[in-house]
Amino acid sequence: MKKPDVKNKPDAMKKIVILISGRGSNLGALLESTLPCEVAAVISNKADAGGLEIATAYGVATRVISHKDYADRAAFDTALAAIIDTFQPDFVVLAGFMRILTDDFVHHYAGRLVNIHPSLLPSFPGVNTHERALEEGVKIHGCTVHFVTPKLDHGPIIIQAAVPVLRHDTPQALAARVLQQEHRIFPQAIRWLCEGRVRMDASGRIAASCDELASASLISPQSA
Ligand code: GRF
Repeated sequence: MKKPDVKNKPDAMKKIVILISGRGSNLGALLESTLPCEVAAVISNKADAGGLEIATAYGVATRVISHKDYADRAAFDTALAAIIDTFQPDFVVLAGFMRILTDDFVHHYAGRLVNIHPSLLPSFPGVNTHERALEEGVKIHGCTVHFVTPKLDHGPIIIQAAVPVLRHDTPQALAARVLQQEHRIFPQAIRWLCEGRVRMDASGRIAASCDELASASLISPQSA
C-alpha cells in the first residue's frame, strides 16, 4: 500500500474528550452537531449521569471515575487526567462537569480546556446563576463558553449568547431560555477551536478569526 504523503496531508482531525456530571443536554448538542473533530470519550464523575446514555447512543466510549473514591481533590484530578490522557485529546471540554478543578489540572491542559457556564461572565460566576440573575433584576442574562484558567469561571471568553429576562420569569423558565442558547454557542465554540479559528495565546488572551456582526443587539425590555 502506498504510504500517505505527509507533507500534503491536511491537518489531522482534532480529538476531544468531554467531561460531564449530569443530564448531558450540552453533550447531546455537541454530538448532534457533526463537529469537525473526533469525540474520543465522555467521562463522568457520576455513574448515574444521564449523559452517559447519550454518549453510548452515539457510539462514543464512556468512562466513570467517582470523586468519592479519592482521598482529596488533588488525588481525584490526577487520576482523572491519567484517564483523559489515554485518549490523547487536543481539547478537553467541560459540559456540565460539576467539579472545581485543581490548579495543577488546569495547568496541565492550559489552552486546551474549555467550559460552558450559564451566565454572562464575569457576572454570576459559581452556582445558582439564574436565581441570582433574577434577584439582581438584570434585564439581560445568558451563557458563556470560555477557556478554563485557575480562577473559577474567569478564563478568556470565546463566545456568549444573551437572552432577555422577563418580568414573570422563574429560575426554571430563565434556565430553559439560556439552555437553548447554550446548545447553539457550545458547538460553535468547539467548531472554532477545532478549526484553529480561536485559541488562547501565550499571554492568556483570545486570538481569533471568527465572524463578527456589529449590528447584533439585544435590548430588554423592548416595546413592540
Ligand atoms: C449547563 O447549564 C451548563 O452551562 C452548566 O451545567 C449545565 C449542564 O447541563 N455548566 P447539561 O448536563 O449539559 O444538560
